[in-house]
Amino acid sequence: MISQELRNKFLDFFKKKGHVIVPSSSLLPDDPSVLLTTAGMQQFKPYYTGDADPLTSIHGTLGKPLGSKNVASIQKSFRTSDINEVGDESHLTFFEMLGNFSFGGYFKKEAIEYAYEFIVKELGLKIDYVSVFGGDRDVPEDKESAEIWKSLGIKEKDIHKAGREDNFWGPTGNQGPCGPTTEIYVKGVEIWNIVFNEHFQHSNKKLEKLSIPGVDTGMGLERLAMVVQGKSTIFETDLFASLIEKINVEDVRVGRILADHLRGAVFLIADGVRPSNVEAGYILRRLLRRAIRLAKLHKLDVKLYEMLGEEVIKFYKNYYLELAEHKKEIIEVLLLEQEKFGSALERGLKEFEKMAQHKVIGGRESFYLYQSYGFPFELLEEMAREKGVNFSKEEFEKELAKHQEISRAGVEKKFGGHGLIMDTGELKAGNEQELQKVTRLHTATHLLNQALHDILGDEIEQRGSDITPERTRFDFKFNRKVAAEELKKIEEIVNKKIKEDLPITITKMKLEDALKSGARAFFKLKYPPEVNVYSIGDYSKELCGGPHVQRTGEIGRFKITKEESSSAGVRRIRAVVEP
Ligand code: SER
Repeated sequence: MISQELRNKFLDFFKKKGHVIVPSSSLLPDDPSVLLTTAGMQQFKPYYTGDADPLTSIHGTLGKPLGSKNVASIQKSFRTSDINEVGDESHLTFFEMLGNFSFGGYFKKEAIEYAYEFIVKELGLKIDYVSVFGGDRDVPEDKESAEIWKSLGIKEKDIHKAGREDNFWGPTGNQGPCGPTTEIYVKGVEIWNIVFNEHFQHSNKKLEKLSIPGVDTGMGLERLAMVVQGKSTIFETDLFASLIEKINVEDVRVGRILADHLRGAVFLIADGVRPSNVEAGYILRRLLRRAIRLAKLHKLDVKLYEMLGEEVIKFYKNYYLELAEHKKEIIEVLLLEQEKFGSALERGLKEFEKMAQHKVIGGRESFYLYQSYGFPFELLEEMAREKGVNFSKEEFEKELAKHQEISRAGVEKKFGGHGLIMDTGELKAGNEQELQKVTRLHTATHLLNQALHDILGDEIEQRGSDITPERTRFDFKFNRKVAAEELKKIEEIVNKKIKEDLPITITKMKLEDALKSGARAFFKLKYPPEVNVYSIGDYSKELCGGPHVQRTGEIGRFKITKEESSSAGVRRIRAVVEP
């Protein structure tokens, strides 16, 4: 059974069981506590906590309410935790996750029975054994799940018990729903993880019982295909066979890394990620540059990169339409990164070889390779390991911190780009005039953020922002529509602060002190150890990389043009400034 049949079979099965099928969400999640989507449950997080309602809240991917407490999806997922393991039989960065979810619709009995029926009856597989949560100091043993397995004919000896490490899942990020799991093993492989979201873990690690228990299951398509197709590695399944064949390299491990990394990169690019030195862009860069170096090391065809990109697109485009839609850009991004790094690589490798002779590469040296030749830190680490050279991560990071003025928002000059003079991911400007407009809107956005807190309370939390010369767009966690009168008040406050012509001041501070001082920080961003805090009079205080106007009077008149839902539990405001 090929992978596409598995996808269909899974979705059909859960449709028949009354589930609404929801498309995969983007690899770039709404959830700001994680960089990339790592699990199917992520787009449903607010339903478990009661922050969103499946029958009334507009769902981001679907564009309307889910319409059911029970849903199923095939989710594009990406995990960086296993990146160094890629190359063995079963580890991947990108993978597809089949999952069924319930937010108070059903619980353990149905979840386990559905899984059993799908594996044993639909796919005709034999379950070797299952595992259940054995209990610990905070959470009791899951006897109920064990009983349900027994009722389905699984023998007591085949119901293994395990602790937190193995049979407890979540939360994703620093807080969220989590709970005990039960896992299904077929042919020695863990294929299905069924999570019972009974708890909410707060950022201080305290567990609180959720009022409605939820179900979250995840089954990796690649592993399932391996078991169903009777292969001994995921790379022999139809999902990888054509790629591996195209790569055609003797070293098996290298072939697998290239296949995994290029596949993951194509999906990241299709979802809008671009190589950079921060966040998701850095993960993409790591994949691409590691692959470029390996290809060079093994003297593979320079055209390989493009060929692999095209092969991935060809294989997946009928199911993931975004690959077909963005085909041209995907190939362009691949080639651009190859060109950028490819030309520096040779010289960089020579430098590296010279340094390696001393068996120690210090912080300054590694930073030099990173800075001047574009070697991602992890790639240097890998190269040092191969050569048996001493290499210290701390030293590298110390050096990096020294050079890293306000890293994230620091103006990134676009390489050979489209005349862009600034693109921080948050602010975009193409010329001097646009830069001025963006700057005014940027300061206005800080005022808006504070005014939102004033009117809606401190539960609101920034989720993202995007500023072009035309408008600012600000996303924040909030659970209902903002009323017209509230929007009016917010607008009035901002305009009042503009009228007051408040000065904007910058203070350089240690990150820790800045956070202690109560400056707002948008926690999706990773801040360097030393940060700039921008204050607007004594009205607003935020960690930021600028640029900002000198006095609020320069902003002009502030106007909110739209308020809408951006995804479950997240609102979006658009606003403009007029001279
Ligand atoms: N969230 C769980 C996992 O990723 C089950 O979907 O394994």
